[in-house]
Amino acid sequence: MAAAARVFAEGGLVAFPTETVYGLGADATNPAAIARLYQAKGRPAFNPLIAHVGDLKAARRIARFDAPAEALAEAFWPGPLTLVLPKAPGCAVADLATAGLDTVAIRIPAHPVAREILRAFGGPVVAPSANLSGHVSPTTAAHVQSDLAGRIDLIVDGGAVEVGVESTIVGCFDEPMLLRPGGLARAEIERVLGRALKQPPADATGDSGQPLAPGMLASHYAPRARVRLNATSLKAGEALLAFGLGAISGIDGASTVMNLSERGDVDEAAANLFGYLRALDAKGAHTIAVMPIPQHGLGEAINDRLRRAAVGRE
Ligand code: TXA
Ligand code: MG
Repeated sequence: MAAAARVFAEGGLVAFPTETVYGLGADATNPAAIARLYQAKGRPAFNPLIAHVGDLKAARRIARFDAPAEALAEAFWPGPLTLVLPKAPGCAVADLATAGLDTVAIRIPAHPVAREILRAFGGPVVAPSANLSGHVSPTTAAHVQSDLAGRIDLIVDGGAVEVGVESTIVGCFDEPMLLRPGGLARAEIERVLGRALKQPPADATGDSGQPLAPGMLASHYAPRARVRLNATSLKAGEALLAFGLGAISGIDGASTVMNLSERGDVDEAAANLFGYLRALDAKGAHTIAVMPIPQHGLGEAINDRLRRAAVGRE
């Protein structure tokens, strides 16, 4: 962790665990380091990054918090929530990391290794998920290694992550708005706010204009295999990504079966999702048929990622 802080100070790139997914970090104030980060991921530079900080004091130096943002930070940080807020005057996060927007995405992660690295480094660290752009996010150090070996300076191995999908992103530059479903369930956020989250305009997730959460490109989080959603029967040779213990016809012809959660638990399914997609790819599946996943709790984030994985492949 001390080595990670040194590498950041020298402008290098470090992959490290957070409770949601592994992040690929760089010094948020160093444009050259951020340019390397975009290049290592093969990520378009118009796609802004999340600044990770160790505490609220550091967050307030970067962004302005309105009352709903204060309430959410108080309730859920450290944790799997990212807030998109107006930049504070003198915000030290490089323009390259915010893609020239006047807002900035911030998160205080809960993972003890991430927290220790941020403490040791002392400044904000921008970190997208530590995968090649467009690929599924890494939930183990081995996933990071298989995508980014040779392209980055250091990987800190903290074992498998706990949550398994990326943070929930809420915009607080207007009425609180759900920009990306993720590891913190919508219902928990709405309970603290005492009202429903606004939905972003429909074109916010398209590829025209200036999208509100530009990373939400329609096709993202993609495994190599085709993904077929809401499968209620299986075609011969398909791999099955199951959920719960419900019966599905045609299962005898499955090339492989992996079950996201036999007991039908959406939290467990979220933790397994990206690793299982990678495992099915590794087994050479040509099509992954996915059983219906309920929309409650983290099911909203799971279904969001699966829809993006299926785009253009059905
Ligand atoms: O759980 C996570 O959030 C992980 C870990 C490493 O913290 N990080 C992550 O980062 O998922 P990334 O870069 O894969 O996703 C960041 C998302 C993108 O969709 C990006 O467009 C959006 O945040 N974003 C960043 N800054 C924004 C801003 N100012 N306005 C709107 N969206 C923003
Ligand atoms: Mg990502």
